[in-house]
Amino acid sequence: MAMILKQGKLPQTPHTEYYAVPDVLSLEEIHGSYGFSGPHSRKMHLRSYPTEQSKPPRKGDFNFLLKITPDDILQPYHILTNDIPYEGDAVTGRKPLLFGNSVVVSVSKPVKSMAENMFFRNGEKHEIYYVQNGNGTLKTEYGNIPFRNGLYIIIPKGTTCQFELDSKNAYFLIIESNYPVTFPPHYMNSGGQAYLMAPVVETEIESPVFQEPVDKKGEFLINVKHSKGIITTLTWSHHPFDVVGWEGSFYPFGFHISNHHGITREIHTAPPVHQTFQSGNVPNNGFSLCSFVSQMEGWHPKEIPAPYAHSNVDSDEVMFFSNSEYGARESIIKEGSITFHSGSIPHSPHGDAALKSTHDRGKISKRLAVMLDTYFESLSVTEAAYNFRDKNYAMSWYNAANKTKASV
Ligand SMILES: [Fe+2]
Repeated sequence: MAMILKQGKLPQTPHTEYYAVPDVLSLEEIHGSYGFSGPHSRKMHLRSYPTEQSKPPRKGDFNFLLKITPDDILQPYHILTNDIPYEGDAVTGRKPLLFGNSVVVSVSKPVKSMAENMFFRNGEKHEIYYVQNGNGTLKTEYGNIPFRNGLYIIIPKGTTCQFELDSKNAYFLIIESNYPVTFPPHYMNSGGQAYLMAPVVETEIESPVFQEPVDKKGEFLINVKHSKGIITTLTWSHHPFDVVGWEGSFYPFGFHISNHHGITREIHTAPPVHQTFQSGNVPNNGFSLCSFVSQMEGWHPKEIPAPYAHSNVDSDEVMFFSNSEYGARESIIKEGSITFHSGSIPHSPHGDAALKSTHDRGKISKRLAVMLDTYFESLSVTEAAYNFRDKNYAMSWYNAANKTKASV
């Protein structure tokens, strides 16, 4: 994360004696990445270290262990996430759908807030939430991030958090990564700001709203995800949101998808122009995350706005359709659809979609979609994804082409 923030009460010089309240030494914690050499934040705790477990750790009541469906064969997938039931809270309702060595893609459709004494910490992966539906607040030790439809929430690995819903339910797309999530480094200038021609502006992030430390005793449970999906429950006798101040560049933040300011040109532009975030050492590992937002289609007199068929051989592509406005696959995809196209086979528009798209030259598209492209990482399909697949998807191009031919 480019912006360095400073919130609450902090010593003038790091790692020096500091008292947020009289006679109580504030306790420092570094939350950092890349072995003390990457982005980090310094948190000052009111009176307790984050190591003070009041009971021995125990096995969690749930887990997110990843299992490939035994029925998987190479095919384009269309996963109907609208059909996945709403249940649990933002954490217990999470259902992994696709995964690789460094990435997990899940949905969570909670119907309730997390219990007041219950917290979650992803101890093995950084997270991106995309809010498809719902209102509420993500509470963390860094402060609160109110959320609404269309907000990306970036949560660094190791952040303790709690989701509170204001709406009766919510619908999240969740992407986890081994590597920190940032704006693409090639968007940033030497001063750490986004270039003036980049599609993002770093100051449009929604930083956590700092809260006064909670100085409370009780029993607080933190479910920590680790070791490829195992959950271990930690018990603390002090409230985890006991931070009197923090400073640094490693913290959760929001970024609304409408703040991806699309760049267009006279002819069709390849997906890298839609990139909002990336994770890992792109293009050698990790992924790019793209936002397909409303923007002007190419205006060349012979422009074909629909994309070409593509074999993007080093990437597996996951696309989440926030709405159903996507001409290349019109009438196939629905709001909430996830398509998963392996790099092992090409995919394309269908039937007469390319020809029809010529009517959209120079017009504003209404699409809204989130796309993840891995680099040198194959994804596998879980049983949940397999069970909610569109069984006719692999044949959809053939069927659309033949329907078109029949009508000629
Ligand atoms: Fe694609």
